[in-house]
Amino acid sequence: MSFNFTLKAQKSKVLISVVSPEWIPEGSLKKLAEIHGFTGKPGDVLLVPDQEGALEKVYIVITQVKPWEFGKLSGLLPAGEYALDLINEELDPSMLCLAWGMGVYEFGKFKTNPAPKEKNAYLELPESIDTKRLTATLESIFWIRDMVNTPADIMTPLGLSEEALKLKELGATVAITQGRDLLTHNYPSLYTVGKGSDNPPCLIDVTWGNKDHPKITLVGKGVTFDTGGLNIKHDSAMLIMKKDMGGAAHVLGLARMIIALNLPVRLRVMVGAAENSISGSAMRPMDIIKTRKGLTVEIGHTDAEGRLVMADLLTEGARENPALLIDCATLTGAARIALGPNVPGIFTNRPDLGQKLAQSGCAQQDPLWLMPLWQDYGYMIKGKTADLNNDSSTSYGGAITAALFLENFVTKETPWMHIDMMCWNIRSTPSKPEGGEAMGLRALFHFIETHFC
Ligand code: BES
Ligand code: ZN
Ligand code: ZN
Repeated sequence: MSFNFTLKAQKSKVLISVVSPEWIPEGSLKKLAEIHGFTGKPGDVLLVPDQEGALEKVYIVITQVKPWEFGKLSGLLPAGEYALDLINEELDPSMLCLAWGMGVYEFGKFKTNPAPKEKNAYLELPESIDTKRLTATLESIFWIRDMVNTPADIMTPLGLSEEALKLKELGATVAITQGRDLLTHNYPSLYTVGKGSDNPPCLIDVTWGNKDHPKITLVGKGVTFDTGGLNIKHDSAMLIMKKDMGGAAHVLGLARMIIALNLPVRLRVMVGAAENSISGSAMRPMDIIKTRKGLTVEIGHTDAEGRLVMADLLTEGARENPALLIDCATLTGAARIALGPNVPGIFTNRPDLGQKLAQSGCAQQDPLWLMPLWQDYGYMIKGKTADLNNDSSTSYGGAITAALFLENFVTKETPWMHIDMMCWNIRSTPSKPEGGEAMGLRALFHFIETHFC
């Protein structure tokens, strides 16, 4: 992976001044700014040539709230080496470097013609930067984006398992349980979602770290494609459903960061990987599953498969009484209606921890929002012929009822947080190209590091 950084640039490097909107170009710069429509708004760039017309200096306007604008430079600047010069004091240089690296990303491996413009601008890393942390963060972000962007015929449950196996190179133990073996190992709910596909469902179970350290368990929804099942989705709703393993990609990416930066935790990651397909062996509406926990669930809707994938894994995760159990999932459209695409929702049986995670999100400019786990709505997911129904009896509060469903599978004693996330940029903005995206990754890392280490 290349993030277009260099440790020590040559003398001929071009300096980049990162200025605030109050900065006023003077002298010859004033004219140049006028000609190029530089008005000083966040993200504006002014390229200053020398007498031969070669690039001599770069100015970019960046504000604290929008460090991501810096990421546009890696694609915009001509080939060469660059270094940060004067920086607007309010800004953190490591955020600028992160933005630069994020801006380098492209998912181009399926294009037969190379990109029209190669990104060949390299940024010198300032000495003050924690290079190891920056690299680990970018490696996880790129990995998550790649997993989410990869089409579902490649990123099958087994394909996702192969991705997880890469964690072995970093010292983790990875076990895969596949197909009907899931029934032998008592994961009936995960198996039921995946049984309609030719690509067999898998449980990915990763462990790492010293068993005397606080136990952190991560659970991920790894639905490699969500057709909706027999309650089939309509065309536009299905179009981006290769991203329905985004929660799984997140927990694997978070694990990678935790391992690479050697956090003193005992880590377990469980991913439920399954394709929600349509076939003669697919689950049917009103089939009943007896879950690992023993609770029975009637399938009110085959498109509410994510909560079924995760139910058994949460039961297994909670059994070990971890210090913290987190699940990440592209669980509901309702969460996206409530919060839009870019703000994941937090649902938790420990609101104090939820607040702290939201604070980590603020500190890291990686937002999440605390949502209510509103117990009164529990009646909406009661079953008629089983204990629970995976669909709600009303059309209200769909993200909350999904979270309440999951809560049935954890214990009161286990501090648990459920993150309902989009994992997808609906449009390209600087540093954040359209497609798969890490959302809440840096916040989660910061939260674990601050409160559990
Ligand atoms: N994977 C979807 C949720 C989703 C849709 C996330 C769009 C992000 C963007 C999930 O499996 C689903 O289809 N949920 C249904 C649940 C409903 C049938 C109770 C939904 O949200 O409509
Ligand atoms: Zn679905
Ligand atoms: Zn889904």
